[in-house]
Amino acid sequence: MKKLVIHGGVPLTGTICISGAKNSAVALVPASLLSDEEVVIDHIPDITDIDALDEILVYLGAKIKREGSRMTIQSEQIENKEIPEKISKKLRASYYFMGALLGKYKKVEMYFPGGCAIGKRPIDQHIKAFEALGAKVEIDGNKYRIEADELIGTDIYLDFASVGATINALLASVKAKGKTTIHNAAKEPEIVNVATLLNNMGAKIEGAGTSEISIIGVSSLKSAYIEVIPDRIEAGTYVILGALMGNPLTIENIIPNHIEPLLAKLKEMGVSYELKENAVTVSRSDHLKPTSIKTAVYPGFPTDLQQPITALLCFTEGISHMQETIYENRFQNVPYLNQMGAKIQVKGDMLDIQGIQQLHGTVVEATDLRAGACLFLAGLKADGVTEIKNVEYVLRGYENIIEKLTHVGAKIELIEI
Ligand code: EPU
Repeated sequence: MKKLVIHGGVPLTGTICISGAKNSAVALVPASLLSDEEVVIDHIPDITDIDALDEILVYLGAKIKREGSRMTIQSEQIENKEIPEKISKKLRASYYFMGALLGKYKKVEMYFPGGCAIGKRPIDQHIKAFEALGAKVEIDGNKYRIEADELIGTDIYLDFASVGATINALLASVKAKGKTTIHNAAKEPEIVNVATLLNNMGAKIEGAGTSEISIIGVSSLKSAYIEVIPDRIEAGTYVILGALMGNPLTIENIIPNHIEPLLAKLKEMGVSYELKENAVTVSRSDHLKPTSIKTAVYPGFPTDLQQPITALLCFTEGISHMQETIYENRFQNVPYLNQMGAKIQVKGDMLDIQGIQQLHGTVVEATDLRAGACLFLAGLKADGVTEIKNVEYVLRGYENIIEKLTHVGAKIELIEI
């Protein structure tokens, strides 16, 4: 067990460089299995979710080489065996092995994935896509057995523009016979990153990044290279930190378009920032206007920044409102913020956030990844010492967090307990 100890209230100056996107990397790594040849992925973040995927690949017999942020995967010798529950439940993204192994071997046996407990998070849309392609799905408790004599291209209509279901539908259909069209596909940049890798491998995918993606099946996929896009959620988290404590703080290696929904909100609130081609410099603002935010699928305001920005909304001059529309249980950070002195009321899927002058350090707990991000932002702003327990959640998604924050002047330590 580890905890973060933060001596807050220190203004932060300098540059934080953003790592490769967790939610792209966790899909690119399983996607590489579809090729029999070598796949090289650059800018892989050093986070525990990637270690868990690495473990699954090694278990299946893939050869993995990791040199810095480059991962080379050779999947020719893979044995398509059941993936045990104790590994699949380590992370949400283990579900991408369903699409990748089904797409390659037309059969997969594995268990329901893990991930942060932020809502029910069913995978019915993934299953619907596999079935539409001709697979038979047997569910026995937590275990899934998915098999097809042949995968045949078809029209897949998603009830919800799910990131995971869109990527799994892509993985399962790239080698199917004929044409597949995914309707109401998710449009997140991570999906474009995955489609680019698959196209580099020889797949024929068009329309990724729009709500209709078409795929013409191919019989084999070759060696390929891809760079993971910069993490827009890590970037957004540190941009919010700039608005809280920047003196000023520059966040570099970003794709400005990808964080536009956040920047637009910050502008409305009166945060001052300067945007360059691949960086943004943000200064702490003493007078913030209250605002209303509603989470939505891309390009709406991302649910993954809902908890981090709540730390900033505590400091507006008035009452702000937050509505979470994607997950049922993503307010677990709120009781801890209130313990630190925030004035937040939960009303169903809404938060009413009354602006306050200061937060105060205390002992809190990360209940999930982005709740942990909210609390480390709050701790860096608060006076006194904040201790965040269960910080393993944060390490799932933020690469070199201690080094990055110490480099800009934060007093933060990771302690084994
Ligand atoms: N949903 C269904 N059925 C499905 C799939 C999704 O009802 O078959 C519902 C979910 O219950 C949820 C919503 O749809 O309410 C969103 O699900 P989606 O499939 O879009 O999310 P996901 O694939 O499970 C990915 C990220 C999440 C991020 C969401 C939304 C990964 C591994 N996870 O999750 O990341 O919140 O997209 O952008 O890519 C995080 O990074 O903190 C995180 C939770």
